[in-house]
Amino acid sequence: MILPRLKQATAARHAAIETRSVLLEPGLSYAAYRACLRRFFGYYAPLERRLLRSPAWRGAGLAYADRHKTPLLTQDLAALGVTAEELALSPWCLALPDLRTTAQLYGCLYVIEGATLGGQIVTKHLQASLGVTPQTGGAFFSGYAEHTGSRWKAFGAQLNAFAEASGADEEITASANETFATLDRWLYPAPLRAPLHDELAIHP
Ligand code: HEM
Repeated sequence: MILPRLKQATAARHAAIETRSVLLEPGLSYAAYRACLRRFFGYYAPLERRLLRSPAWRGAGLAYADRHKTPLLTQDLAALGVTAEELALSPWCLALPDLRTTAQLYGCLYVIEGATLGGQIVTKHLQASLGVTPQTGGAFFSGYAEHTGSRWKAFGAQLNAFAEASGADEEITASANETFATLDRWLYPAPLRAPLHDELAIHP
């Protein structure tokens, strides 16, 4: 069973992203939510483009057609007042995971599909704190809504079957970690330079 292994192997990266996220902050503002969604758009749009172009689907035994998430982000950003022109000018992440093999594809999909679980918690918070519903800007995090559990189970079964047939646990796990790492670097870029020695010095 690869799922528990993946969960354990990526737990630290998941916790880091979850902890740094503004999404569950009690005082979440509309502007912060919109800025966060734009950042997600900058990652998911190029990632899904790369996913869809990957030749590795042939050996995957699953389809992505009804799992696209970029259209939900586009829809949410429009509902939150971001114009098509503004969206077209949004920066896109270029440092994406390698998705040439079916094992890499599965590792990446584990992260992207798993995020729909946490999305259910975010959805409740958006509704409670901002009054945002799936219809008014919260479609991305709502994802598959009441079907989230069953769709996660279905995906997990396909992932397990692929892992057992291929024996590619290492490659799947590396790709899941790479997906988390690239997303983390995109969402929380390192400061452009290290602080100068003087700035760190404590003056009495
Ligand atoms: C504030 C943001 C987030 C919260 C509160 C959150 C919370 C959660 C929760 C509660 C679960 C279910 C754990 C379980 O059933 O045992 C989960 C699973 C997961 N989340 Fe998140 N999450 C967040 C963001 C993300 C993001 C941004 C990603 C990646 C894009 C992500 C990837 C995953 C994955 C891969 C799983 C599946 C873990 C597994 O059962 O193997 N999460 N998350």
